[in-house]
Amino acid sequence: MAEWRAEKNAKQASVGFVPTMGFLHDGHASLIKESIANNDHTVVSIFINPTQFTQSDDFEKYPRDFEGDASTLRSLAVDVLYMPSATEMYPDGFDTTVDPGEIATILEGKSRPGHFNGVATVVLKLLNTVTPHNAYFGKKDRQQLAVIRQVVQDLGLSVNIIGCNTVRSEEGLALSSRNARLTPEQSVAARVLSTALRAMCDSYRQGERNTSALLSVGQGVLSSEPMCATDYLVLVDAGTMRAVQSPTDSSVICVAGVFGSIRLIDNTDLGQFV
Ligand code: PAJ
Repeated sequence: MAEWRAEKNAKQASVGFVPTMGFLHDGHASLIKESIANNDHTVVSIFINPTQFTQSDDFEKYPRDFEGDASTLRSLAVDVLYMPSATEMYPDGFDTTVDPGEIATILEGKSRPGHFNGVATVVLKLLNTVTPHNAYFGKKDRQQLAVIRQVVQDLGLSVNIIGCNTVRSEEGLALSSRNARLTPEQSVAARVLSTALRAMCDSYRQGERNTSALLSVGQGVLSSEPMCATDYLVLVDAGTMRAVQSPTDSSVICVAGVFGSIRLIDNTDLGQFV
């Protein structure tokens, strides 16, 4: 990776980078296409990062399809697939963790303690090795995007972090590797997350500006689905991920719900459902 990078540097070519954990779907593909369109070269990494899994997440059960991923990346004409091993990333004696602070302890961080420290550490390592000009992350994982922006800002990394829109199924379900583990009934039930977000956007567009009233519109939709155990529904600032009292177009609605044993998240800007 480092040799390839040094060669491209000598040629002053721009490099885009899309970090992933594999089991690629159209959401990943949209990030990759965005990178290919805007850079001379694109690197995609696949590394199922053990340090970002909490006990309940079950690292062993994370879906894997390396052959399928390799052929997807070939058909997208990606320049480099970077697949470091766990011992290469975390050799004996490895002992440093990046702690992004408060933003990593709320919402997803509260349900999955230590998760964002694992994400921040591995992303920093990957960025240091690939040294891209532009790195692409999905807005689907809105808090992850905010955490990475915080780390890049605080540690003074010279990379542009680009947030890409969420890719959804026709029925509105945000694509996720975890969807493969839902039963057919649970996948139908899971549509309630985007339905709730859309209902809140509609209410905002019709003039509702009271945060509690907007949240009760969403709660009403979520509670109409008995298979959904809502973890949180919040209206937050996109940069800090902290609750906002006076909603604006760029406020973000975030929702997390559990279907059986599968935890799903979704979000949208309040001013425009995407
Ligand atoms: P992974 O879940 O594989 O996701 C890789 C990238 O794809 C992330 O930036 C994620 O936000 C984006 N993505 C996933 N589903 C999407 C969708 N439906 N629409 C648009 N983008 C989507 O996120 C991770 O891996 C890891 O935490 C990682 C950043 C690689 C660090 O280990």
